[in-house]
Formats: sequence, structure tokens, C-alpha cells
Amino acid sequence: MDRLKDKIVLITGAAGAIGRAASDAVRAQGGIAIATDLAGQPGIAHALDVTSEDDWLRVVADAGRAHGHIDGLINAAGIAALGTVEDTDYATWRRVMAVNLDGTFLGCKHAMPLLKQRGGSIVNLSSVAGLVGGHNFAAYNASKGGVRLLSKSVALHGARLDPQVRCNSVHPAFLEGPMVDEIVKQTNFPDAARARITRDIPLGRFGTAEEVAELCVYLLSDESRFVTGAEFAIDGGLTAR
Ligand SMILES: NC(=O)c1ccc[n+]([C@@H]2O[C@H](COP(=O)([O-])OP(=O)(O)OC[C@H]3O[C@@H](n4cnc5c(N)ncnc54)[C@H](O)[C@@H]3O)[C@@H](O)[C@H]2O)c1
Repeated sequence: MDRLKDKIVLITGAAGAIGRAASDAVRAQGGIAIATDLAGQPGIAHALDVTSEDDWLRVVADAGRAHGHIDGLINAAGIAALGTVEDTDYATWRRVMAVNLDGTFLGCKHAMPLLKQRGGSIVNLSSVAGLVGGHNFAAYNASKGGVRLLSKSVALHGARLDPQVRCNSVHPAFLEGPMVDEIVKQTNFPDAARARITRDIPLGRFGTAEEVAELCVYLLSDESRFVTGAEFAIDGGLTAR
């Protein structure tokens, strides 16, 4: 119950499946979750569009005034888009890169002054699509692959700080929830798409946001104090073959 006792954790995309589950898990483990998402989304403390540097500066300043430091950051805001390199239009490419990669960069950059007050841990939501390619995932693959390597650079920088800041990436496969519902809706045969995805996952089912949240708790907690720059597939074995 106390694995994150008194740890202050800023979470983006906190109205979404993983962000909400992670906020709940942080609180359940005795931490303080600062929940952020786009303005108007339910259950959040701060409006934060991760693509807006001004928003980051405002929210980090508010958190600094309220707490003086933070112990953790979960970059969970993200969007998905289906499309091959040929049929992805440039506006979609730019938007996916802006939210998934620029947003994660801005978070790591602007939360760092608060994280390095006492040392801390960053968890970046990448995807299995950040580890392996898909023919119709051009923009999403590129953005999530970027998050994977950005996380390693941040980890190496954070290791040189005193106190140190750790950073790891998390790579879920398909989870039950709105993001996958939206992806399968974009295919011509959603039921067949769901069945095929399930067949492709060795453990034979979609994952859940709560399972990803449990991994986030581990990475935010002191149990993972020797873990940084690492990538964690949570994918039912999808990328094992
Ligand atoms: N759901 C999955 O199957 C899955 C699998 C692998 C990786 N992921 C990644 O995990 C993260 C969370 O996914 P999820 O399942 O919770 O998705 P979700 O769609 O349920 O939630 C995403 C949240 O991000 C928010 N968001 C979108 N654009 C934003 C912006 N510009 N600024 C701030 N917030 C913004 C949305 O409002 C939403 O609340 C994403 O980065 C996603 O790519 C999800």
C-alpha cells in the first residue's frame, strides 16, 4: 500500500485509460498524483496540452509552488493513427509526432528542474510499436521509436545528475480500451481485426491499463532504484518471437 508513500507524481493523459489507471495506482500506493490532460477532460487537476511549451511551463510552475519538487513523471498522453507511409498525410504525421514525441520531450525537459531537486523517476509510454514495425503504423511507429531512444538519452543525462533522475520506457501491446477500439474501427473489418490481434498475442488476450499501471508503480518506486535507460515490453509475449 505504501510503495509510493508521499511521492509526488505528475501524469499526462490522465483522463485516458493508462493515465487514469496510473493516477489511481499512485494514490493507492500512498503517493500524490497530479493529474493532467487536455482542458475539459474529466478528473484532472490541471489542463495541459503536452504539445504546448507554455502549458508545461505553467503546470510545472504551479507544481513547484505547491510542492517544491516532484518525484515522478508519467508521460502517458498519446494518440494513434493508422496509415502506411504512402497514405499518411503530412498533417497527420506532424500531429502524431507532436503529441507522442514532442510532448514527451517537453515533459522530460520541463519537469527535470523539479525532479532533480530530490531525485526522481520518469516513465515514458512508448508501445510495442516503438520496438517493431507495422506496415500501416508509419507515424505511430516513428513517434514511439523516438520515445524509446529519447528515454535512453534522458536516462544517461539523469544518471549524471546529483541527485539522480531515472528514466525508462514502457511498451504495451494492445490493451482493452478506447485507443484500440479506435484503431480497429479504422480497419474495414473490426471484429476480424480484434480476433487476429488476439491470435497474435501468445498469452491469448488483450492487456489492461491496470497491468500497465502496476509496471509504472514499480518504475516510480524505490524497488527499481538500479533500473534506468531500460525498455519494458508488457505485451503478452507479442515481441518475443
Ligand atoms: N491503449 C493501448 O493499447 C496502448 C498500447 C501501447 C501504447 N499505448 C500508449 O499509452 C499511452 C496512453 O494510452 P491510452 O490507452 O491511455 O490512450 P487513451 O486514448 O485512453 O488516452 C490518451 C489520453 O491522452 C490525451 N491526450 C491526447 N492528446 C493530448 C495532448 N495534446 N495533450 C495532453 N493530453 C492529450 C487524451 O485526452 C487521452 O485522455 C499513449 O501514449 C499510447 O500511445 C497505448
